[in-house]
Amino acid sequence: MRCDQTAAWKHLQHHAQAFQGFDLRAAFTADAGRAESLSQTAPYVFADLSKNHVDAATEVLLQALAQQTGLEAHRDAMFRGEHINVSEDRAVMHWLLRQPAGSLNGDLAAPLAQVHDTLNAMLAYAEALRADAQITDVVNIGIGGSDLGPQMAVLALHDYALPGKRFHFVSNVDGHELAGVLKGLNAESTLFLIASKTFTTIETMTNAHSALQWFKAQGGNDVARHFAALTTNVAAAAEFGISTTFGFWDWVGGRYSLWSAIGLPVAIAIGAAGFKDLLAGAHAMDQHFQTAPLGQNLPVRLGLLDVWYRNFLHYTSRSIAPYHSALRRLPAYLQQLEMESNGKRVDRNGQALNYGTSPVLWGEPGTNGQHAYFQMLHQGTDIVPMEFMAVKTPTHNLKDHHELLLANVIAQAQALMLGKQDAGGHRHFTGNRPSTFLLLDELTPTSLGALIALQEHRVFVSGSVWGINSFDQWGVELGKVLAKDIHARMVSGDAAGLDASTASLLRRIRA
Ligand code: F6P
Repeated sequence: MRCDQTAAWKHLQHHAQAFQGFDLRAAFTADAGRAESLSQTAPYVFADLSKNHVDAATEVLLQALAQQTGLEAHRDAMFRGEHINVSEDRAVMHWLLRQPAGSLNGDLAAPLAQVHDTLNAMLAYAEALRADAQITDVVNIGIGGSDLGPQMAVLALHDYALPGKRFHFVSNVDGHELAGVLKGLNAESTLFLIASKTFTTIETMTNAHSALQWFKAQGGNDVARHFAALTTNVAAAAEFGISTTFGFWDWVGGRYSLWSAIGLPVAIAIGAAGFKDLLAGAHAMDQHFQTAPLGQNLPVRLGLLDVWYRNFLHYTSRSIAPYHSALRRLPAYLQQLEMESNGKRVDRNGQALNYGTSPVLWGEPGTNGQHAYFQMLHQGTDIVPMEFMAVKTPTHNLKDHHELLLANVIAQAQALMLGKQDAGGHRHFTGNRPSTFLLLDELTPTSLGALIALQEHRVFVSGSVWGINSFDQWGVELGKVLAKDIHARMVSGDAAGLDASTASLLRRIRA
């Protein structure tokens, strides 16, 4: 049943009205067990949800909403391999990429065996490359999910990476990016990974062609050694001239593809054992999502909180603040995950919605954000739920830094909630501003895998309650088609049929 037709939705609307005077400080005073009851341990991640605008009744009503919208049945359908991506008639099985070998029977046994055959081949290749001292630079050419996931993870796991190899990520069709990277490279010591699920994306194909030209112009001739393709479209890669290919399947969405061959840069950086740990961490979170009761299921609790904020308290964005510099690309990664998945205005049957879906996701690592936009978070007119992330144990031994970092993240969550009432005017902080606090003991391949799978599943939960298809992305198509048309007009100068603004911009750029 569509969420807005359920009894729980109506109850939540009433509950939200009663919630208008809700105050976090009063909630903590009234309930000595609040921190405890709104905390949750999941594999490798501890979450403190208690500084959110929720109470026990909110959570009960949200769980009723999940039940009435069939969340569990939808989740189980995904894990059975049903074609829940209805607009593309595809299964959604990124979770199968982290499923242990031989652990499934029935229809999924064969795809799982294929997953492990490809994984083994890819990890053997990664190990050979790690042992190959002649290759010093790995250039990943890809965009969207074929860039953000591997880039985020290679940066996040820098401390586990083999020294002696540099990683570069080229995504933009803007030639400044590729030209800047090529400047520092030597053909004989470079490996190009052409990462594209479809092997048709214009940015990636343009960069790949230029990289190949550069390679040949530098005297390079062993394309099989210096280029590899990571794609579901093996035929297109072969046509391009690449014979070293690692495949994956149409049931892996681009923004969910880090666990597939798209993860090859990560495997080269951290090795086969490290990559297996990443998969194992994600698998532990898959199991938690599949088996924990709704009330103690972290992805469920986070996803339902997202619905509560978006549709009932009308908070339209979420800010991500990882207090760990290695997680600096995590906000960008999560932006695609949430906004490309849940930025939809029709339900699974194509019917227009009359309620909001994806929030705007944004953020920067702490403490940098504190000195940039936290002013607005503390004293601005909009309430922005925050998601803090911190790591207990550092991997460096510089004195004082980590204590200061952790003191700051705790203090920010505290300051947002407590505010400052004893001063008026400009110095007044209203407080009562909500935040979630995610804590990892250490940032390792395993805990990163769990953290990312947690985020994937929370996006599933809100998308499922909203009744949308979180696994297509038709919204990116129109711009691609129009760019093709404008590109042709830039050559011909033909402005016929264009609106006046577009025609004038075209003339100006061609002049
Ligand atoms: O344009 C959006 C998109 O299709 C994303 O979903 C995807 O991650 C990205 O482009 C790259 O696509 P591909 O891996 O097929 O090159």
